[in-house]
Formats: sequence, structure tokens, C-alpha cells
Amino acid sequence: MEDIVLNALKRIREPQSGKDIVSLDMVRGLQIHEGVLSLKIVLQIPPQEAHRAMEREIYQALERIPGVKEVKLHMSTEAGNTPKTRPGNRLAGVKNIVAVASGKGGVGKSTVAVNLAIALAQAGHKVGLLDADIYGPSIPTLMGLKNTPPLVDQNKKKIIPLEKYGIKTISIGYLMRDEDAAIWRGPMVGRMLQQFVEDVDWGELDYLLMDFPPGTGDAQLSLSQIVPISGSVIVTTPQDVALADVIRGVAMFQKVQVPTIGVVENMSFFNCPHCKERSEIFGHGGGKKKAEEMKVPFLGEIPLQQDTRVGSDEGKPIVAMQPDSAIAQVFKTIAENTTRELNLINESRPAVNL
Ligand SMILES: Nc1ncnc2c1ncn2[C@@H]1O[C@H](COP(=O)(O)OP(=O)(O)OP(=O)(O)O)[C@@H](O)[C@H]1O
Ligand SMILES: [Mg+2]
Repeated sequence: MEDIVLNALKRIREPQSGKDIVSLDMVRGLQIHEGVLSLKIVLQIPPQEAHRAMEREIYQALERIPGVKEVKLHMSTEAGNTPKTRPGNRLAGVKNIVAVASGKGGVGKSTVAVNLAIALAQAGHKVGLLDADIYGPSIPTLMGLKNTPPLVDQNKKKIIPLEKYGIKTISIGYLMRDEDAAIWRGPMVGRMLQQFVEDVDWGELDYLLMDFPPGTGDAQLSLSQIVPISGSVIVTTPQDVALADVIRGVAMFQKVQVPTIGVVENMSFFNCPHCKERSEIFGHGGGKKKAEEMKVPFLGEIPLQQDTRVGSDEGKPIVAMQPDSAIAQVFKTIAENTTRELNLINESRPAVNL
């Protein structure tokens, strides 16, 4: 059995050197017990994006072996252990900060952020949603919380986030009118966001989702420096113009060493409620193809759907209102994929001497 496993592993190459991982002596502690195969993969350098593709390849290769029921893979650097949070995480109670971003505006980031947050909460996680779009906050509308100023805990001197649909949330839009938000300038925005992270009483959270403003300019880049982001979810639509921006989105986060959790294709196709026919209005599948090309995970595809749009406009997110619907199932799958990919990222994060 061990031979079969090693043979399978020999076909997998370390992306930097191009050599196979067995010859490079990266495989350690191989054990097979009652169908459970456990092993460690030791990297010589801190893991890169490509190592996650390699990790997935290893899982796929080993899970295919007859008799293997489960694969337990632990990836680490030579130095050893793997902290769950990024260095400099000022939010002791928050395990993961997830940016929901896109290169292009209007692709449905905020809609995805809200529904993904609710789907994660429905799966039993503790979830927060931070609206990082200071100039055009849409979370208050989507959550049905316009003009609902949060309270301040005078003892702790902290803002208490609003709670609805099982998630905690904060947005500049809860505090002021949209027109007032438009006067904010760059440095003020930075301070505001820092406050949203540090001066809001988030408590214990498994995931804090950040709805990013559209684009990949300096403003977006600086956000990732203000807040210790664990990974990013890039939202796109299937049109070529939006897909071209996926590359920019991924590249922006890579510049600041934020790994990509994966790509979501929104408005992927349309199931006509009357004629039951499926049409692919903007084309379909481009998001998946782009993710494969870029060797980043594909998290799922969301159909264009009227209830989703109406729910967003009325502050009644579809996943909260119709938790048993097909569309809620789509978000549930995306939530599961997000959790899994983020766990892989956290497991492979190198040891940091704080
Ligand atoms: N899957 C979907 N089906 C139908 N309508 C959708 C879907 N996703 C988003 N929309 C609608 O598209 C519009 C834009 O969505 P949203 O505000 O979430 O995009 P955004 O990327 O956050 O925009 P911005 O770049 O302005 O922040 C909204 O009216 C929303 O209701
Ligand atoms: Mg938005």
C-alpha cells in the first residue's frame, strides 16, 4: 500500500522546482490506518499560491487510491507549526477576515457578501459583515438596516454592531446618509476602516467578511494593509470584460501577500421561471475557466435571478428569506467551499515568530 501511495505522490511536482515531491524528500510521517492515510508535506519555502494547487492535487491523487477512505494532509514549512491567524492580527477574537472584492463594479459583490455571510451563519459559524465601501455603502439597503445607528458601549468605549439574519454588521451607512459619506477623503477612509475593525465590539467571530469597494486601485490596496486579511473571494460575471478584471483582482491581493480563497461567478445563467428554459445571458463558465487558468479555486456559480435582486433591494436577503431554495443551496455550497479553502490556506501558512 505504501508503495502505491508513494508512486501516486511521485507524479506530483513541487511548483517552484518542477521536481517530484518524493525525490525532494517533502513527504514525511506517512501512515495508513484503517483506510485513513495521514502524511505531512514539508516545504522549504513559505507556501505560495501554487502550493495550494499542489495540495489539492495530492488530495485528489490519494483519494483515488482504492482502500483510502480519508486523507489527512498537513502542510508546513521546515520551521514547523502553523498559526491560524495572520501576524499583526489586532482582532484577537476574529479568526478569519475575508475580503469580498472584484475588479469591476456592479458584478454583485455586496449581494454575494451578504448572502455568503448568512449562509456561513446558517452553517453554524459566528459571522460578521463589515461594509468597507465607504463611498457607496450598499450593505444597509441589502440588510434592511438603513438609518439604524448602532449603539455605543460606554464602558468598553466600543461600537456595538447591529445584528440581523444571524450576523453582526457594521457600515458607514448605519451612521450617516449616503450623501454625507461622499465627502470622506482617502486618509479619513483609512481611519474609519481601522475604527470599524478595532473600535467595534465584534466579540468572537469565525469569519468577518469585508464588502470591498469596486476596483483594484490604491484605495483598495491600502485597505488590505489596514486590516489583516486572511484571504479574498473574487466575484465576477461571465463577460470577458469582467473576467479580465479577475486577474487584476487576484494580482492586487497577491501584491500584499493576501491569498485568493477563490473565484465566484455571479449572474452565471438564467432559468426562466415561465418557460423553464435556461439561457446564458452573459455567456457561462468563464469564471471557472479563468480560475483554472490562474490556478486558484473556483467556489461556485450563482444564477441571475429576480428574487435575488428584489430581496437585495428590499433588504431581505434571499438566503435568509428562502433558506430551502435552490439559490440558497448555491450559497451554501459556496460557503462550504470558502471554509474548506480557507482552512487549507491556514494549514499551509508558515510559522511566524511574533
Ligand atoms: N445573482 C443575481 N441575480 C439578480 N440580480 C443580482 C444578482 N446579483 C446581484 N444582482 C443585482 O445587481 C445589482 C448590483 O449588485 P451589487 O450591488 O451586489 O453589486 P456590487 O458589485 O456590490 O456593486 P458595486 O460595485 O457598486 O459595489 C443589484 O441590483 C443586485 O440586486
Ligand atoms: Mg457593492
